[in-house]
Amino acid sequence: MGQVHNEIIPGRVLNSNMPDYDRAVAEFTWEDAERHFSWYDTGKVNMAFEAVDRHVLEGRGNARALLYSDASREEVYTYSDLMERSNRFGNVLRKYGIGKGERVFIFMPRQPELYFSLLGILKVGAVAGPLFEAFMETAVKDRLADSGAVALVTTPELLKRVKREELPELRHIILVGGDPDPDPDQGEISFEEEMASAPSDMELEWLGLDDGLIIHYTSGSTGKPKGVYHVQRAMIQHYYTGKIVLDLQPEDIYWCTADPGWVTGTSYGIFAPWLNGVANVIRGGRFSPLDWYKSIERNAVTVWYSAPTAFRMLMGAGKNSLEGADLSSLRHVMSVGEPLNPEVVRWGEKVYQQRIHDTWWMTETGAQLICNYPGMDIKPGSMGRPLPGIEAAILDDRGNVVPPYTMGNLAIRTPWPSMMKMIWNNPAKYSEYFRIPGWYISGDSAYMDDEGYYWFQGRIDDVINTSGERIGPFEVESKLVEHPAVAEAGVIGKPDAVRGEIIKAFISLREGYLPSAALKEEIAAFVKAGLSAHAAPREIEFKDKLPKTRSGKIMRRVLKAWELHLPAGDLSTIED
Ligand code: PRX
Repeated sequence: MGQVHNEIIPGRVLNSNMPDYDRAVAEFTWEDAERHFSWYDTGKVNMAFEAVDRHVLEGRGNARALLYSDASREEVYTYSDLMERSNRFGNVLRKYGIGKGERVFIFMPRQPELYFSLLGILKVGAVAGPLFEAFMETAVKDRLADSGAVALVTTPELLKRVKREELPELRHIILVGGDPDPDPDQGEISFEEEMASAPSDMELEWLGLDDGLIIHYTSGSTGKPKGVYHVQRAMIQHYYTGKIVLDLQPEDIYWCTADPGWVTGTSYGIFAPWLNGVANVIRGGRFSPLDWYKSIERNAVTVWYSAPTAFRMLMGAGKNSLEGADLSSLRHVMSVGEPLNPEVVRWGEKVYQQRIHDTWWMTETGAQLICNYPGMDIKPGSMGRPLPGIEAAILDDRGNVVPPYTMGNLAIRTPWPSMMKMIWNNPAKYSEYFRIPGWYISGDSAYMDDEGYYWFQGRIDDVINTSGERIGPFEVESKLVEHPAVAEAGVIGKPDAVRGEIIKAFISLREGYLPSAALKEEIAAFVKAGLSAHAAPREIEFKDKLPKTRSGKIMRRVLKAWELHLPAGDLSTIED
């Protein structure tokens, strides 16, 4: 078991007479969240209506909804603007016969059109599939093919990475960015032209709580990435946690730094803030400490949600990056994606005069579950406690609850509103998460202390978390063995001070190839070009032979033990 931490930092709002849970529940309940939606009156919902149109119909259309900036653009859109743009895009999709339940993917940089498109997709009842701009050919193809996407919103530049000939179901390509010459024979449509002629009002598609919302591909330890499918019901939890954990108030200016290719960038970069009607800051372009701080200052950001990697980089960038930036608007800061080191929490107190609140959840859980939320005491290094109404536990492999301070499987009692509804095309994978009746098994190991705080210990499977991004070792290994020099490959996460983990590949070479630094570089570049930069191994080590089970599975556990100079454990199934 890891080190037990006992340090306590008092929470922001303290009323020590009332237990935290009761205090939060008294202020805003799950019932309040459910009652908020039109479903409560009509039996029907639509996320885009609840997040955008509702504010306009209730007289808040002039409130600022999207504050966008990058190196060359700076734009502000009100809720009325968002309603109008998403209506138009919804009408464009309808014109081409795209409707309820169909998958429409978005593959473009963070820019306002991404957000208009996503809302328009939801308005026709289609299921949105956002992809990271960094994805290369194989990564894009695998996701579009698996989901059977019928349409893709992208830019002419990124379209070059879409292998259309291998995607028979992909009928429409909507090109953003003034492509001068879309080819209608190839199903290409100009976003700008269609938007200009589309009607600005529409009757949106009313849906049930279990109708589709969004699909996010995420990695496991075996097989291709899994399509985690979420439904409309998730809005209850997005709205609720927006109040309880993000602490959003009508006047807030909120910034979630995540890209919508990642679940944080949709659940908390789109849904939670807009359901709660706040001004949402979107910053395009790459991470840069000074730009980020300037963005906080210029927008007067009050609530900020980011990730440990970013905080560690900001910490590393030191004082100079802060020079002249006024961060005094900040009122609440949160983190997600990987363990938040206690020293980062302490640094945040000094530099931001804010305690960074850690939050734990997963793509599959759809929304936050275990958090440090306003009103509770923070223990630096702990993910916090289950939200009111959420039951967590540490289970042994047979499903028994273990005593405090014992490490085991972090599990959540099923169901909760934002729980994934399926893994697309893969019911067997889905049921693995629910193998212990009544529980969702997260794949994380953790322990609980005697005050009900949870402490993250690691992944139980081999999934690598690098800079907050989940990388499945299998996907990287599959790409590696496509390289002509590679006979076999085993991929692990190697602990790293800034990125959490980095990808390390152990490779055995085919006959006729000799180990060299140049070959390492070539192999890393090959993965980068085929999958994405963040999936490329930062370290490669050549081995004559890799440890394998008798059934031929590479034993990553043994590779990891080699790397960390630890005992390799039970080797009874090893080949020879
Ligand atoms: O291992 C946990 C880690 O990230 C995994 C989920 O990754 P993903 O689906 O990409 O979603 C992250 C954003 C919701 C978890 O299984 N993780 C997430 N939050 C934390 C964390 N590890 C430690 N502390 C956290 N707060």
